[in-house]
Amino acid sequence: MKTQVGIIGGGPSGLLLSQILHLQGIENVVLERQSRDYVLGRIRAGVLEQGLVEMLRDAQVGERMDREGLIHDGFHLAFGGRTERIDLKGLTGGKTVMVYGQTEVTRDLYNARDDMGGLVIDEATDVTPHDIETDAPYLTFVKSGLETRLDCDFIAACDGFHGVGRQSMPKNVLKTYERVYPFGWLGVLSRTRPVDEELIYANHARGFALCSMRSPTLSRYYVQCALDENLDEWSDDRFWDELKTRLPEAAAATLVTGPSIEKSIAPLRSFVAEPMTHGRMFLAGDAAHIVPPTGAKGLNLAASDVYYLSRALIAQYQKDDETGLKNYSKTALSRVWKAERFSWWMTTLMHKFPDQGVFDAKMQQAELDYLTSSKAGMTAMAENYVGLPYQEGDEQ
Ligand code: APR
Ligand code: PHB
Repeated sequence: MKTQVGIIGGGPSGLLLSQILHLQGIENVVLERQSRDYVLGRIRAGVLEQGLVEMLRDAQVGERMDREGLIHDGFHLAFGGRTERIDLKGLTGGKTVMVYGQTEVTRDLYNARDDMGGLVIDEATDVTPHDIETDAPYLTFVKSGLETRLDCDFIAACDGFHGVGRQSMPKNVLKTYERVYPFGWLGVLSRTRPVDEELIYANHARGFALCSMRSPTLSRYYVQCALDENLDEWSDDRFWDELKTRLPEAAAATLVTGPSIEKSIAPLRSFVAEPMTHGRMFLAGDAAHIVPPTGAKGLNLAASDVYYLSRALIAQYQKDDETGLKNYSKTALSRVWKAERFSWWMTTLMHKFPDQGVFDAKMQQAELDYLTSSKAGMTAMAENYVGLPYQEGDEQ
């Protein structure tokens, strides 16, 4: 087989890249290790920055998002028994976020690839990049027991944190930065009316809590838990009681509870790999970086990588201009580190750390008090939450 861009990974970043390149007449093939049902069965977050919303519309996959997604102009911070609203729209000159599940984004992308005759090969195992340091890299993979070779000009490794892309970068080239947080998030999905029309991020002496949603009838809630928490010890009743305890009275009083349809624990990690390029292979999304979910930046950061990489590949093929590809790692990492900083900062501000003393707790309260009483403080938080602009290499 031969194509122009070989894409490893059929998650949101691989599929979005495939769709954008297709619309620009650039051939590509996506190799996904899992089945499509498996990929679409993963529960993930769902707050989309304005930049991603516009990319999905431009990539002709925004129709259902615009029909079913919820535009949010703000969110709430709850602490010390009070709730303060962060007016995203007012503080950022009109920017908002879209609440629309990542799983739905991935489903829309799969449908669009199908409708446009895109080649997404799932259950492609043993995907291996070869000759990435040459100008004729290729991928090998096994599909239905058949070993296949895919020749390409460039390889986009959109294969997530556990993918083969980053692992195939020479150890003397790759540098990684990591912070693993000493707690997790216990998440529940329930067919109940959300406790509020907007998200509530709660800082509480018993730990963090988050009230989110997927739709007006599908709620998503999280409570901070220990990393070695045993899920079997968390009945639905225990979850709802703990959540109520961590919410301000007014919210706790209106919380609608019900049976959980999904319950899981997710660890929290900050991770960045540098560089995001080696030879003719380019890392994008979770393959290069992980953020703790507190700032809702995971999917949005994958999207900004795809924004830079797609523009660079389009310039290469349409204008024979390799500047974007040459600058890709530097350009993408500049935005990655800013989003890593925001996600680490929100995580540090809103969670209870095991070794946290009373002074640390007072510092959190004072920072939240400052933030919610200062226009400058709220503006800084809002502009990061709605998403920092996609700056080009030469604008940095
Ligand atoms: N070969 C082929 N496919 C692979 C391989 C491999 N060796 N390893 C992993 N994959 C596939 C995975 O099965 C997965 O479907 O690559 C895909 C990577 O998708 P994601 O992990 O969703 O990563 P990405 O597309 O970058 O999306 C980032 O996902 O985890 C969330 O919070 C994260 O929201 C962020 C988003
Ligand atoms: C979610 O809806 O799952 C969600 C929302 C916001 C976050 C994290 C997760 O910061």
